[in-house]
Amino acid sequence: MAYYLKIVSTGIAVPEKILSNQDLEKMVDTSDEWIMTRTGIRERRISPPGVASSDLGTEAALETLKSAGMSPQDVELIMVATASSDYLFPSTACVIQKNLQAVRATAFDISAACSGFLYGMTVAESLMLAGHYSNALIIGAETLTKITDYKDRSTCVIFGDGAGAMLVTLGNDKSGLFSSHLGSDGKFADLLNLPAGGSRLPATFETIKEHQHYIKMEGNELFKVAVRAMEEAAHLTLKKAGLTTADVDLLIPHQANMRIINSLVKRLGISQDRVYINIDRYGNTSAASIPIAYHEARTQGLLNKDSNILMVAFGGGITWGGVLVRG
Ligand code: ACO
Repeated sequence: MAYYLKIVSTGIAVPEKILSNQDLEKMVDTSDEWIMTRTGIRERRISPPGVASSDLGTEAALETLKSAGMSPQDVELIMVATASSDYLFPSTACVIQKNLQAVRATAFDISAACSGFLYGMTVAESLMLAGHYSNALIIGAETLTKITDYKDRSTCVIFGDGAGAMLVTLGNDKSGLFSSHLGSDGKFADLLNLPAGGSRLPATFETIKEHQHYIKMEGNELFKVAVRAMEEAAHLTLKKAGLTTADVDLLIPHQANMRIINSLVKRLGISQDRVYINIDRYGNTSAASIPIAYHEARTQGLLNKDSNILMVAFGGGITWGGVLVRG
């Protein structure tokens, strides 16, 4: 019997505080016009001191479980995709497990930067089809503003905070995850990274003085590989499902940069009205970007029973991925 990873419910959490382009104009040498034209971002959310990725992830998870009418004690697997984990260890997934009191769950993090949520969906499908678990809570949770250098105008305009969660189970009614494709290429690792704080460059006065504990990005180079990686992920994911770009009812791309999304959409030949965009409101929330956008599209009634939804992402590593979901 065919089994499909079925999406039961979703939820999101974003901080209340908005950091607008006008706010950033007062912090670095930039302008609303530059940020809008080069990135499509109008504002992003910023969490207050003391709020970590697990806090947003817990809130999104609670909303997801509430919407499914499911008790945390029945959750069997928790996976958290994040590039801004609370600690190097323990995992943010374990912190969320404790917060939820999901005492029966296995919990671990996924490190694939912005592609992490799609990695999570694919890993959940494999573990569940292999019979290890009958349900899973997949969470993308980020507080990137904590690792953003607000003296570096080329990165600080891009990133924002947020979390999205998805409860999945197995079903056989031909809805849910139909195909996926994941890829990575470590030779581009230097294009986007956080140099210090790990075992390569442990924290010292120098690393702090040199701002090595913040996100570093080579935007121009990343732009080119991002478009190529997402295009490949889209085609290979569709091919595995026996579909083409003409069959895509809604494309949910990682909300990295509006110009990246526009280039991708043009190369795929998908019309703008079939693309979900919220980068103007949240900026780039890395691993939280896809689940936030999916949840919004779902609650806005954009996902019908027979619609083909293609999600594609790329991220630091570099990593990329595509997931095709029906219904
Ligand atoms: N405001 C004003 N000027 C700026 C700003 C700013 N915020 N940032 C950079 N500039 C300046 C630069 O200093 C440069 O000035 P110069 O010509 O005098 O040297 C000029 O603008 C052009 O800089 P570029 O880096 O070439 O600008 P570009 O058009 O490439 O835009 C950007 C930069 C937005 C970062 C772009 O390269 C980009 O989006 N790259 C993709 C990377 C990305 O999306 N990263 C986030 C996603 S990664 C992920 O999701 C895992």
